[in-house]
Amino acid sequence: MLTINSFLIFEIKNMRSFASDNNSGVHSDIIDAIATANKDHAVGYGDDEYTQEAVQIFRDLFKTDVDVYFTFLGTGANVLAMKSSAQSFNSVLCADTAHINVDECGAVQNFTGASVKSLPSVNGKISVSSIAKELHCIGDEHHSQPSVVSITQPTELGTLYSIQEIKEICDFAHANNLIVHVDGARISNAVAALDIPVNEMITDTGVDLLSFGGTKNGMMYGEALVVLNRSLSTNIRYFRKQTMQLSSKMRYISAQFTAFLNNNMYVELAKRSNAMTKLLQSKLNKISQIKITRPIETNAIFAQIPVSLIEPLREKYFFYTWNEEENEVRWMTSFDTTEEDIESFVSCIKDVIG
Ligand SMILES: Cc1ncc(COP(=O)(O)O)c(C=O)c1O
Repeated sequence: MLTINSFLIFEIKNMRSFASDNNSGVHSDIIDAIATANKDHAVGYGDDEYTQEAVQIFRDLFKTDVDVYFTFLGTGANVLAMKSSAQSFNSVLCADTAHINVDECGAVQNFTGASVKSLPSVNGKISVSSIAKELHCIGDEHHSQPSVVSITQPTELGTLYSIQEIKEICDFAHANNLIVHVDGARISNAVAALDIPVNEMITDTGVDLLSFGGTKNGMMYGEALVVLNRSLSTNIRYFRKQTMQLSSKMRYISAQFTAFLNNNMYVELAKRSNAMTKLLQSKLNKISQIKITRPIETNAIFAQIPVSLIEPLREKYFFYTWNEEENEVRWMTSFDTTEEDIESFVSCIKDVIG
């Protein structure tokens, strides 16, 4: 859960931020792709050749005939995933830290009527045993019936499920008639960090639904719900319209994804972002007042810092407090973070410490 005094937002000009990877700009190749798509007319709502091309690229990438539903938002992709797999009497099992649990303003509950059951997590990850504990009262009409497990890769804490862990969750879930959804708002960072093709992480482990993010890694806007278990697709086209995620000028999302996925751009950008986090980590390790609190596996750093440092630092570099009681803050790098950004940030921290 992120908090911030909102008045600060308007005081920081020309900022370079470590608040979130969605504070960064748009990669110039994405702008070019939008500009290239911006000629003539194209049929609306996805019946255009840009969208056909992008869908085919997803199919090639996942090495199977996935269905792809482009959305405006990550929340929109998550809601669509849940619409396809949960009814009002169902429950969605996820980590207590999951975005769908704490950062989507109850969107899943609002659009599906299902309850969201948060499971205890360790560094953002849930386990088969925590899922198993929820599988009681199956068939009892007094209790919500679990229908889907949602995990986030990388997690909201920047940590990673290994391929083995994803497979174990999928195998267990399927053996218990549960669908598996992956919130991959930052799936690029996971692919880059684990250095494994996305089809091996997602298709081969048996994931049913993936929210594939673009916005946090260099796209202007646009996410994709990738449906690997196509039996879940039956009603998604209707739900997408109802949830206001059906873009009439779809080509501008599709063209971005084509550029993003071609030539491994999404992985290369995420590698850069992850590498900048490692660089920042190496410098923070030398500052005794800063205590890193979570394993650093992708592009996020969580750290406890003296409370007196938070506001002076935030006046120069916008960032969020993650846990106010613990003075735990979150710093994130982006595809466009530079070594100079890291140097300036670290020297600003040192100045504030005095
Ligand atoms: C893990 C995760 N999932 C989903 C989202 C939702 O994305 P959006 O803000 O585009 O709805 C976010 C955004 O912060 C996120 O961090």
